Amino acid sequence: MALAVDWQRDDYSRVPYWLYHDEELYAQEMERIFRGPVWNYLCLEAEIPQPGDFRTTWVGDTPVVVSRAKDGTIHAFVNRCAHRGAMIVRKTHGNAPDHVCIYHRWCYSGDGTLVGIPFRKGLKGEGGMPADFDMKAASPRKLRIANCCGVIFGTFAETCETVEDYLGAFGMGMVKRFFHKPIKILGYSRQLIAGNWKLYAENLRDTYHASLLHEFFVTYGVDRATQKGGVKMDARHRHNMNHAYTATDTQEEARAAYAGQQGVALDRMQLKDSKLLQHVPEFADRMNLAAPAFFPNGLLIQINHSLGTRQIRPKGVGAHEVFQTLFGYADDTPEMTRHRLISANLVGPAGLVSMEDGEAIEIVQKATKREGAAATVIEMGGRGPVKDLAHRVTETPIRGFWSYWAELMGVEAPGGIR
Ligand SMILES: [Fe+2]
Repeated sequence: MALAVDWQRDDYSRVPYWLYHDEELYAQEMERIFRGPVWNYLCLEAEIPQPGDFRTTWVGDTPVVVSRAKDGTIHAFVNRCAHRGAMIVRKTHGNAPDHVCIYHRWCYSGDGTLVGIPFRKGLKGEGGMPADFDMKAASPRKLRIANCCGVIFGTFAETCETVEDYLGAFGMGMVKRFFHKPIKILGYSRQLIAGNWKLYAENLRDTYHASLLHEFFVTYGVDRATQKGGVKMDARHRHNMNHAYTATDTQEEARAAYAGQQGVALDRMQLKDSKLLQHVPEFADRMNLAAPAFFPNGLLIQINHSLGTRQIRPKGVGAHEVFQTLFGYADDTPEMTRHRLISANLVGPAGLVSMEDGEAIEIVQKATKREGAAATVIEMGGRGPVKDLAHRVTETPIRGFWSYWAELMGVEAPGGIR
């Protein structure tokens, strides 16, 4: 049954609170969004370099295994035993010639095909599976995958746009920017946030909050409104990149701009060791902050020398996990690797920046539980059509997100913008 949404406006500048809390809507999102005509970010190829390497991941709240088969090909399949529904692979990652479910030891090859069933022919002529049981047909559902410069995307859709069309020139360009040479994985973090997954998707499209919520950003000029930068989207406005350029403002400009803003302090904190902030532009575009977010679940993120991918993993209507993979480049010096790890203190569950996003999302989730017909106001940056902007005082890409979300959910506003 389709749910009706009263958007109040045709430009998605009002989002009713019940969309963050409704169980039935959440179930529909898992089907229509995550199992719909989208490319979900799964993992990085560098995480599974050798035959037999695998890692577990999620598409919406469906567990998925990505594995490299003996012949080197990469496969993704639903991490659920064909027999009684147990999760087949319980480790986060590893190397194995095949995957065996612990419950009844049903065995799957590296490409996710069911290849072995204990006591299949019974014992001493008794018991066992019917002779005509088709193991191949019973195998877990496979996803179609696409490998873009070492970033693995997957889709449940039998037919949909190619990943190149889906990401667009904008998205493909950003993938190439981050993965222009071989990488090495530096580590992982997981951040469990007690809020609906869409609040995180919104946060990634909200450049307005960055220097207001994050005192670290504004104090040290990592990301503030006075810097050169802005928001850039694909043609459908479903993906977005918040970005800023190194050293394009001064402390004096920032002090003047933030002087009248409630409670924003540029001078409250001082670092005893400023190594964390050392930054020499390493990309040709000289951005120090680049955060392309790909609908529905993926993010590439550079904050100074901290590089990573993030995956949004919905955990029921009221929670999600942000899974982060930190990386550097294979040819980094030991000093640069150490510096990237130091820079990683900005992100993750205890990150000097990321922990504040988690708190902001949780207080929205708490305060919006009642009065579901009331709505958020998304007008910073203007009403009407969604467009790229060369400034940072905007939340316009959030409206692009909702426009595409509404299209996939079949609940577009009458005459709604795209
Ligand atoms: Fe933030």
